[in-house]
Amino acid sequence: MDADGAALASKPVSINGLLALAKADMAGVDALIRDRMQSPVSVIPALAEHLIGGSAKRLRPLLTIAAARVAGSVDDACLKLAASVEFIHTATLLHDDVVDSSELRRGKVAAHLIWGAPASVLVGDFLFARSFELMVEAGSLQALEILARASRVIAEGEVLQLTRAHDLNLPTETYLEIIKAKTAELFAAAAEAGAVSAGASPDQCRGLRRYGQNLGLAFQLVDDALDYSGEREVLGKNPGDDFREGKATLPLLMTIAKTASTEKAFWDRTVGRREQTDEDFQRARVLIVETGSDTATLQLAADYAASAKAALTDFPLSNDWRSALEDLADFAVARRM
Ligand code: IPE
Ligand code: IPE
Ligand code: MG
Ligand code: MG
Repeated sequence: MDADGAALASKPVSINGLLALAKADMAGVDALIRDRMQSPVSVIPALAEHLIGGSAKRLRPLLTIAAARVAGSVDDACLKLAASVEFIHTATLLHDDVVDSSELRRGKVAAHLIWGAPASVLVGDFLFARSFELMVEAGSLQALEILARASRVIAEGEVLQLTRAHDLNLPTETYLEIIKAKTAELFAAAAEAGAVSAGASPDQCRGLRRYGQNLGLAFQLVDDALDYSGEREVLGKNPGDDFREGKATLPLLMTIAKTASTEKAFWDRTVGRREQTDEDFQRARVLIVETGSDTATLQLAADYAASAKAALTDFPLSNDWRSALEDLADFAVARRM
């Protein structure tokens, strides 16, 4: 790792301040999530409890709360929107683990390995439906529009990614388009919905949306780096899933481009045709580090985190929620979980 990379990794970052500020609001969100995951069809709460009771960071509802607080206040409708955002996220995780054949989620065996893929997909649909019930109860047509659009855009991002897997020459612009849709859109919508519920001005809503979008881009870039460099116990997911699936993420695309002359046969076999042995992932990791592609991915994430912070400049420096949101941007880059 070069000096830049070391500086990125060693920066002490904590969101404890944000978690303390948001504690009471998040307890309200949690109670709503617990209440609304219930159903008389017993497999639904069983499967939902398995996933929702795992090591979730709850960053997206936290973003809804923080956006509302930085611009105004939190009411019951805002708590419902925050819970709704987490339900959308949780639904996409259930679907995503089936699509990605992932075996570990939030430190637990993935739900589809216990209850099967059909139950996992259908409970995902249930959670999606719950999220829309909550949005309607929140009573803001504007928030409903924001979150409905996000749900559609996430699905588009996941499908676009599916059709471009194994593409060794995927342009960086297309990769960024994918992560903007599948991840950054929900971060953007979470923040914007919170701002809208607090009655923020159109300028403030736009600023918070831009903050969320840039935070989401940074977050997914780091997720894609951690899929090569992360530790299973901390991450709560299995590193190597993206490589196994031949997913064209930035650290891999950069490494392939930089080693095209010497490693073409290796990439064609492992990513192009997905013929892999256990040692191949280790070799891919070495090449990613040797070419500096992990550091370059984290640097791009740091650039987006800086843009996220720059979107908050209309809020007073004395506002504790503004500094908490700045810490969240740093955390998105420095995180190992
Ligand atoms: C996982 O999101 C999906 C991505 C967008 C990378 P998180 O890392 O926020 O997942 P949880 O909710 O904390 O498990
Ligand atoms: C997550 O992408 C995007 C959505 C869940 C919509 P990933 O596939 O990279 O997320 P993880 O790594 O499985 O959490
Ligand atoms: Mg996945
Ligand atoms: Mg991932």
